[in-house]
Amino acid sequence: MNATAETDPKAETATSTDDPRCVPIALDGPIPEGDEIPYPNYSVEEHDIWRTLYARQRKLLPGRACQEYIDGLELLKLPEDRVPALRDVSRVLEKATGWKLTRSPGLLHEKDFFERLARRVFPATDYVRPRHELDYTPAPDLFHDVFGHTPMIVHESFANFFQKIGQAAASENAVGDVRLGLVRIYWFTVEFGLINTPQGLRIYGNGITSSYGEVQHSLTDAVEKRPFIPEKVAQQEYDIWHMQPVLFVIDSFEQLERGFEHWAKSHRLL
Ligand SMILES: [Fe+2]
Repeated sequence: MNATAETDPKAETATSTDDPRCVPIALDGPIPEGDEIPYPNYSVEEHDIWRTLYARQRKLLPGRACQEYIDGLELLKLPEDRVPALRDVSRVLEKATGWKLTRSPGLLHEKDFFERLARRVFPATDYVRPRHELDYTPAPDLFHDVFGHTPMIVHESFANFFQKIGQAAASENAVGDVRLGLVRIYWFTVEFGLINTPQGLRIYGNGITSSYGEVQHSLTDAVEKRPFIPEKVAQQEYDIWHMQPVLFVIDSFEQLERGFEHWAKSHRLL
């Protein structure tokens, strides 16, 4: 799921006039989860687009993505030459951390999205972007959701943090500036987070790991890196249409989980 348009009211307005795929969908019934998810009849072209996206992104990540992300990708054993099945990915997540995938019809309304995170279910799309959008697609697609998001969900601390975001969003106190702060924390961690490691600065944010341009941009000096202090992150504006000029750096996933929990409790969200 692309947290850009689904969670940011500004982004919703900006994109919905341009592209119907960016209009959030409010669900009117259940959507298939885990083993219930059917495997679509992908075309040769779609398998080929997956193969291209996978190969070039996989090559970029060593030395840039954090070890947890690389380990998650190894554990998932995503096929390189054909589009992965959501139900297969879901089984690996379930065994690792008790998370499951659900097949999302597109960009979900944030209420439907967060409700599922709260019960350890990640909404993933199963369609593949067209070839002319290899470098950038404004809407969520399978490559972003599966290649980007799922490798981090096999790790306990990240998986717990991810669930707490959903639980916090479900609180009746998650309104106004506090909700905006929550959405910004989501953006600067789940989608665009960096982490200090003994080997140097590394990427864990899924909006970066699944983006050809952001992977190369995010670690350069063009980006100002600030320490992860939830109160500060909650106040930081972002712009979904440009490369990110400011990113926040955690020291560990335990710090991320504890730091978020502390922030959420201080605003009576948990
Ligand atoms: Fe996303």
